[in-house]
Amino acid sequence: MGKNVVVVADPLAADALGQLDGCEVRHCDGRDPGALRRALRDADALLIRSGTRVDAEALAAAPRLRIVARAGVGLDNVDVDAATRAGVIVANAPLSNVLSVAELTVGLIITAVRHVVPAGRALREGRWERSRHQGRELAGSTVGIVGLGHVGTLVARRLAPFDVRIVAHDPYVSTPRAEQLGVTLLGLDELMARSDFVTVHVPKTPRTDGLIGDRELRLAKPSLYLVNTARGGIVDEAALAVALKEERIAGAALDVFAIEPAVGNPLLAFDSVVATPHLGASTREAQERAGREAVAAVRKALAGEVVPHAVNGAAVARARELAATGAPEAG
Ligand code: MLT
Repeated sequence: MGKNVVVVADPLAADALGQLDGCEVRHCDGRDPGALRRALRDADALLIRSGTRVDAEALAAAPRLRIVARAGVGLDNVDVDAATRAGVIVANAPLSNVLSVAELTVGLIITAVRHVVPAGRALREGRWERSRHQGRELAGSTVGIVGLGHVGTLVARRLAPFDVRIVAHDPYVSTPRAEQLGVTLLGLDELMARSDFVTVHVPKTPRTDGLIGDRELRLAKPSLYLVNTARGGIVDEAALAVALKEERIAGAALDVFAIEPAVGNPLLAFDSVVATPHLGASTREAQERAGREAVAAVRKALAGEVVPHAVNGAAVARARELAATGAPEAG
């Protein structure tokens, strides 16, 4: 029997890839759909981060594929339904980078409100602009967290010592749980109206696409800094640009964009915007964890074992069972 072929379509931690002994590891540039389809022709497993889009077409080009393993959290770049229909397991590394994202979020809040980027740029250009870049303290302000899951909770815990009031919007979190975290739950509109900082920590789904749009931004106070380290598009970029241009809000800190790489994005032209190139998970620790977990998922899938963080494990098992018995799929 030949070796299993594992295609690595995004840059992954080298140490983790070292665990793929016994497999033939092939690298391709997953951002190029043609190159991805060619690489998938005889692939048994595919390893990705967020740069590779695994759609129905890519899956159709992969007759032997058994698993797509995402070294990271978000699965908005994988057509999970199409994978399930094709009998392909999709697994992620759900906790691998949450701490890194939370830490970056706190850093971006302070960077934005203390004008670190424009003041630093002025200094490099020869201007000592102390009063022009007067910021605000965090203490006493209200921070609104949209999505109190793993990252949102870590952000709340890390911000609490700054003596801020923390409010959150999350329909899936109970009041006792929020109270335990010292957080007051609010509807989204009220959160937008009360907060001096709003930070978004929800996955990108059809329901969260454009969640913070023109209507929500019109509810905001002029002191608002909007932070997005979750996914581009959850904040409507056109609406945000108008709010910034009309100075209806103070600024934004963005690590993610609707289209990435976001080179040339009009939001980058605003001095009131701090922007980073999707760095949330880009720490040594997070990449090692994510790579290790994704590689472990690949090894388990190729060995025919249960994959712990498979998001469609049961559905794939059922689809395979039906295919083996020739029974028609229900529903
Ligand atoms: C994630 O969803 O895990 C992060 O956005 C990081 C990444 O895509 O690499």
